[in-house]
Amino acid sequence: MNDPLYWIENELKQIRDKKLFRVFTELQSGQLPEIIVDGKTYILLGSNNYLGLTTDPKVTEAASKALEKYGTGSGGSRLVSGSSDLHRELEERIALFKKTEAAILFSSGYLANIGTISALVGPGDIVYSDELNHASIIDGCRLSRAETRIYKHCDVEHLKHLLSSDNFRGKKLIVTDTVFSMDGDLAPISKIVELAEHYGCMLMIDEAHATGVLGKRGSGATEYFGVEDRVPIVMGTLSKAIGSLGGYVGGSRKLIDFLRNRARSYIFDTSLPASSLAASIAAIDIIEFEPERREHLWGLIKKFKSGLEDIGLEVLPSNSAVIPVLIGEVQPTLDFARMLRENGVFTPAVRPPSVPPGKCRIRATLMATHKEEHIEQALRAFKAAHNLLLHL
Ligand SMILES: Cc1ncc(COP(=O)(O)O)c(C=O)c1O
Repeated sequence: MNDPLYWIENELKQIRDKKLFRVFTELQSGQLPEIIVDGKTYILLGSNNYLGLTTDPKVTEAASKALEKYGTGSGGSRLVSGSSDLHRELEERIALFKKTEAAILFSSGYLANIGTISALVGPGDIVYSDELNHASIIDGCRLSRAETRIYKHCDVEHLKHLLSSDNFRGKKLIVTDTVFSMDGDLAPISKIVELAEHYGCMLMIDEAHATGVLGKRGSGATEYFGVEDRVPIVMGTLSKAIGSLGGYVGGSRKLIDFLRNRARSYIFDTSLPASSLAASIAAIDIIEFEPERREHLWGLIKKFKSGLEDIGLEVLPSNSAVIPVLIGEVQPTLDFARMLRENGVFTPAVRPPSVPPGKCRIRATLMATHKEEHIEQALRAFKAAHNLLLHL
């Protein structure tokens, strides 16, 4: 009998031929500035744990206590039996942090995006989406079956053109990352807010890589741009600077009540376990009340970026802890990452489909737990890799 999965061999071959087959590296340590891989130590420059909170004693202690009290799993979706006092407490804490009236938790940022977008718009509606938005936004748009209009990256004139040429009476939603995950740059949120208000459009932003990093309180881009009261749908994730797992949306009480009743990835999904909830509550307190960690991070970002530029590398115009070094084609990017590793630095090479073809890059990310010495050592490794690549 024929194998009904026969076609997979062919697909895998195509992926391998394009050098896009993905393998992962196993870490034998936590998300620390120095990690262990196959028994060897490397400087980690590739984690979204921007403030180093995944291993912070206050955070891990809160998680341990909750684990002891509540056990490992939540036992159900929120609307069945999986809703605890900690879920409510974290939602209230997020609303306070983001200065929104209310907030709703999802089990990941991915689920928050697909569930929210597909609840807000449907067939006959329009979504305006930045061309470099995260895959979870793209998937949310697809799932919604609304018409999606892609505007050029961060291009408010293009967005305005699309908005003004639509003579349309259905619902309209603008959706954008604030900090773009593979580019590290910042969307022009103030201008997008103005457009959304002018054209009577819903506006949803994704604060995944901005939370904890931007703003005096670390609340993200809405705080940084001073528009906390003008963005009606603020999505974020608990998995990056907050150092745990989960996603959320902040907004008006009516929006949150609506999502609890309409977002399918909320309704039909087991809720977060207590250890993650307690870890996130402790982490948000640190983010808000210990700004010195963020200040240290920004000092490192400045030093690292100027060091890379001095070496002659093409650093993309980032405004966050995501610092991409553009290489171009797949093979030299893989070579660059390998040479970094040979020099004791672990930084991922990013290839399509995560970035467009020809725009492969080394995506370096910094953490507040790095020391100046880590950055200096990393810069020496980047210089060595750059010199080697020039002579290949
Ligand atoms: C911009 C952006 N949005 C959403 C997500 C999804 O978040 P999570 O990893 O919590 O599912 C990510 C992370 O990969 C992201 O980078």
